[in-house]
Amino acid sequence: MKKLILIAFALGCVQSAGAENSSVATTPPMGWNSWNHFACKVTAADVRSAADAIVSNGMKDAGYIYVNIDDCWEGVRNEKGRIQANQKFGDMKALVDYVHGKGLKIGIYSSPGPKTCAGYEGSYGHEEQDAQQYADWGFDYLKYDWCSAEKVYRRDQMPEVYKKMHDALLRTGRPIVFSLCQYGFGRVWRWGASVGGNLWRTTEDIDDHYDRMSVIGFDQDGLEPFAGPGHWNDPDMLEVGNGGMNHDEYVTHMSLWVLLAAPLLAGNDLSKMTPETLDILTNKEVIAVDQDAKGVQGRRITQEGPLEVWAKPLADGGVVVGLFNRGESVNPVTVSFKDIAVQASATVRDLWKHKDLGSFNGSYTGEVQRHGAVLIRVR
Ligand code: GLA
Repeated sequence: MKKLILIAFALGCVQSAGAENSSVATTPPMGWNSWNHFACKVTAADVRSAADAIVSNGMKDAGYIYVNIDDCWEGVRNEKGRIQANQKFGDMKALVDYVHGKGLKIGIYSSPGPKTCAGYEGSYGHEEQDAQQYADWGFDYLKYDWCSAEKVYRRDQMPEVYKKMHDALLRTGRPIVFSLCQYGFGRVWRWGASVGGNLWRTTEDIDDHYDRMSVIGFDQDGLEPFAGPGHWNDPDMLEVGNGGMNHDEYVTHMSLWVLLAAPLLAGNDLSKMTPETLDILTNKEVIAVDQDAKGVQGRRITQEGPLEVWAKPLADGGVVVGLFNRGESVNPVTVSFKDIAVQASATVRDLWKHKDLGSFNGSYTGEVQRHGAVLIRVR
């Protein structure tokens, strides 16, 4: 098996070969993750507040289910080698029970290396024990972040290293979403599913600036053959509401991520959110695009300078189209229906505005703000 995986890695030829945990992530995972806002300062209290907010502000109803602790929860190992939470987290089982008590699920983070990216204890040499500890605590999701594994493994060992943790998770008998985080190295989209990944990061880290977000998002074109129910490309977590982009830029961020069928992990402080941010995160018509049962990742249809048209087919035969303006002034952007295999005459609905725009012949043109997006459903 090990040899097979290595050959597959070298040839870059494995698509979803069925080792994935197929009972989870049938649609792209949705939830919240502590990293983008709290980074290493995160505490158990922050995680509880996030869980409280998700329930009270309507995010849970909109589909955000996973409350994920990222790096910096780790303490030392006890005499038996079992990993303990650090002082900021204390009783991990109590935290897990609290989040479960709200009808939510909870995620944790580690690295296959000796240390995590922030220098905390990693799982190297303790994979079996750690998987069991996460299951004993009741975790539902693991993000497994390469980082210092670089010091103990070669990059061509990545598939077997990730599979080792996947197998350990499987042996616990608990369904646990397995999130591969190794920044897209080794064309992970070609082998991520075969080593049990339910999602895999396709890029290095996002940050809260339009330039970075848009380069990551618009660069995803071409990866669509590798995504599908149970195994998703992950262009990194959302920055919506963190303050570094304006409203139109966050609309672009969310529009792109739903067209990409990307995991939607909010990364802001949910306890201090503006109504405008909440509207972007919880627009149900927009989220339905991401969560569509067909599970197809959208792709770029046309590009003329800074103006781009992207499309994603839906299970009911409709097509969702994103009109994007990466330019510095407002611009009209046109989608030709023939480019999206839609008949000459079609009805168009604006998903952000919840508004039917009428029937159009051959094409639709929308005015798109600088760095903005219009998301329409064409039938
Ligand atoms: C890496 C990951 C981030 C985050 C940090 C934590 O940079 O890509 O998403 O998990 O590590 O240290």
